[in-house]
Amino acid sequence: MPLSPPPFRPGQLWPDTDGTPINAHGGGFLYRNGTYFWYGEFKTGGEGGNRANVGISVYSSRDLYHWKNEGIALKVSEDENSPIVKGSVLERPKVLFNAATGKYVMWFHLELKGKGYSAALAGVATSRSPVGPFTFVRSFRPDGEMSRDMTLFADDDGKAYLITTSENNQTQHVSQLTDDYLDTTGHFARILAHQALEGEAIFKVNGRYFYIGSHTTGWTPNPAFAATAERITGPWTPLGNPCTGPNANITFGAQSTYVLAVHGKPGAFIFIADQWNPKDAIDGRYVWLPITLAASSFSIPWRSAWDLHVFDSR
Ligand code: DGJ
Repeated sequence: MPLSPPPFRPGQLWPDTDGTPINAHGGGFLYRNGTYFWYGEFKTGGEGGNRANVGISVYSSRDLYHWKNEGIALKVSEDENSPIVKGSVLERPKVLFNAATGKYVMWFHLELKGKGYSAALAGVATSRSPVGPFTFVRSFRPDGEMSRDMTLFADDDGKAYLITTSENNQTQHVSQLTDDYLDTTGHFARILAHQALEGEAIFKVNGRYFYIGSHTTGWTPNPAFAATAERITGPWTPLGNPCTGPNANITFGAQSTYVLAVHGKPGAFIFIADQWNPKDAIDGRYVWLPITLAASSFSIPWRSAWDLHVFDSR
């Protein structure tokens, strides 16, 4: 009899291959040569644990169930003059591989130490290896515009984009990256204007783009917001809250961070979200759920346990 895979259990503690709970919040994912990499915020205990006391962690997996701790991909700096000094805020790391330069390029939301969330910067770091160490390159406001929550999306025509919460959390910007992915080009589209969205994630199915994000209520969960478009620069059509089942009105107590395409399974996409725990940041949990696709919309039904076989019948 084939062995059953260990199920995904949304909201439950998820140990890595050493038995320690995975510590990679606000995560971003990269698939490369048979291995998935999970980058995330390394949180520490207590309320101060949401600041970057350690850096960005990275885990690897070949099957999406078992994750090996690969250590700290980007370490905070001990230099008080560095924008990424210990005690700053490094959130929502996302990594792309740039084939032209051979570099892994990490973008993240950066807030300066002691300045709350007022700086609204993006940070960029690079490495020759997917597990780092990444070297901090610089921080800036992309296209000169505010940038807080963000994601990256590499399209199949070779272009890549930063999708970011701009204009003081009011409007999303889709900003085209330079060929080396180290900067923005100055070309950006304003999408979903005045909707006040964050926690953004993008995926593409049969040429159609899908967006999922949240509203802006700090660490407190709220209803998810979906949208679809034929071009990444818009216009985007709102689809409402795609979640169904218990606590669907608060995204199952979580906030979106990524949509992961399962390699080799067309149409298999996993919604990935964080159940934040602001009083004890390290104890935030992860919600992974399979996405149910329709022609020009999608839904995310709650499941307390599931495995990748749910995609077999699709
Ligand atoms: C919501 C954002 O999505 C998180 O990444 C974080 O910045 C919190 N706000 C801080 O309150």
